[in-house]
Amino acid sequence: MKKTLLFACLMVISISATHAQSYNNLWIPDTLSGTNFNLTIKDTFAQLTPGNQTITGAINGKFWGPTMFFNKGDVVHLNVLNKLNEATTIHWHGFHLPAVMDGGPHQIIPPGTLWQPYWKVTNNAATYWYHPHLHEMTMEHITKGIGGLIIVRDEVEGALALPRSYGVDDIPLVLTDRDFNTQKQFVTVPYGDSMMVNGTLRPQHTVPAQVVRLRILNAAIERSYNIGFSDNRNFSIITSDGGLLNAPVSLNRYVLHAGERIEILVDFGGQSGQSVDLKAYNASLANFVAGSENFQNGPFGNYLGKKDFTMLHVNIGAATANPITTIPTTLTNNVLLNAANANITRIITMSDSMGVTNPPILGPNAFIINHKLFDIDYNQYTVPLNNTEIWEIRSTSGFGHPFHIHDVEFNILSINGAAPPAAQAGWKDVVFVPRQQTVRFIAKFEDFADVEHPFMYHCHIALHEDEGMMGQFVVKDLSSSTLNPIATTDDIVIFPNPVSDRLFVSFTDPNMEAYYVKVTNALGKVKLMLPQPTLTDGIDISRFAPGVYWLEVTDQKTKKTISKKFVKQ
Ligand code: C2O
Ligand code: CU
Ligand code: CU
Repeated sequence: MKKTLLFACLMVISISATHAQSYNNLWIPDTLSGTNFNLTIKDTFAQLTPGNQTITGAINGKFWGPTMFFNKGDVVHLNVLNKLNEATTIHWHGFHLPAVMDGGPHQIIPPGTLWQPYWKVTNNAATYWYHPHLHEMTMEHITKGIGGLIIVRDEVEGALALPRSYGVDDIPLVLTDRDFNTQKQFVTVPYGDSMMVNGTLRPQHTVPAQVVRLRILNAAIERSYNIGFSDNRNFSIITSDGGLLNAPVSLNRYVLHAGERIEILVDFGGQSGQSVDLKAYNASLANFVAGSENFQNGPFGNYLGKKDFTMLHVNIGAATANPITTIPTTLTNNVLLNAANANITRIITMSDSMGVTNPPILGPNAFIINHKLFDIDYNQYTVPLNNTEIWEIRSTSGFGHPFHIHDVEFNILSINGAAPPAAQAGWKDVVFVPRQQTVRFIAKFEDFADVEHPFMYHCHIALHEDEGMMGQFVVKDLSSSTLNPIATTDDIVIFPNPVSDRLFVSFTDPNMEAYYVKVTNALGKVKLMLPQPTLTDGIDISRFAPGVYWLEVTDQKTKKTISKKFVKQ
């Protein structure tokens, strides 16, 4: 009897020991808050598999980057230092901000350069993210692990009884998959063999036995995830990319495409001691949706295609002191844009590249927008400032594509003629366009008129985007006056010179305004990039080595650039 009991005990120990070994604890990204944010992009390494170092890219840490908290209404200043050995960009996905601050393919940060964009946060409370966006390099830089989440808070969301204790009852889940080679290094391919959540392979996390909020981002290169729990429990979707839904939408499956975010509430009340898996039910993904392909070999071969797999093992622990125990019945009152107010309907096509002769075809797997591969010098649309526009995306492509637009959040009007599902009937910045279907959305292009700097729209499958499935538009203020300054070298004065700390700039022509300021060293290398800077407090050059530098000031109206030499002591 005693012997059997001992044996049973050993069995339990060994089973729990194997279990403990088979999961890794979910990494929760660090947080940054306030209005000044320092982000250092670098090459580094992380121990993702036991006993191996994987070369990664990261922001501040070892893989991925910190979660930044923004408050709606604040002016946020980002200090982005590129310590990679190559150029990249950092794009603030989902944010309404000046194109020159956007971090798309035009805002290239050379290695060693500090880029300091800033903007007033006008986005609604929701989960956003930041990631590299250098043309033809996006897939590679995201694969390395460069990126991070941004959580916006506002008064509407703050007034609701929702979980918001980060990492405790409000948990970020960044979904990606990666392919490792035999040396356990990342391979830059569209589909990985290994699921990762927050950079953790086979993750487990303990949640309290109460209502928990999961902020889920699909940060994959290509794959869509059909999210559900192993006990088929329902969860309540409360946001759609760019803000709260009017009311929670209760479902037990939801397909999240590349670039999209949802926040969900899950009721774990009274389940302490139990566990459940968050899974991707990708065996039932519709055909021609990323991840539904069942290829074993070739460039798209992977072990996760057309399969159900576990993303996160959830252990349910004790409830916290002041738990949220109910799911609200209403959230907000979205005032959506009205199709009757649209100034124009633009027809955008998505297609397979076959038949495109100019520019030349990349190959049968390249997809295109408006019958054209991306050309960084070609502007497809000039959107008049304050226009309300319907964008009708007609796909003849054999594959489904998640379409994303910069600058604005939009409302979906229809998907293949039908109203959007309830979970997408709010503010969105990515919409999945199923193969050979038409999606219509409506957006208002307020603020940030700038004919020099375009905004992007593209497929958010990074492979497709890199291959050219992207286009660009500018917003133009048709009413702007034409009183132009002359902008000559005499029009700006810099002081002191030599300088050790802060360099001040003043304009003698009152019509001049700094549109862009750059500091380059004597070899012409860019050291500092300041989009639309406020120059009243001077330019901080204290981190520069002593030597000769050039200050390049681009004027707002004329876009003329004036250079002045200065000496840093
Ligand atoms: Cu998240 Cu243009 O991208
Ligand atoms: Cu974006
Ligand atoms: Cu695509």
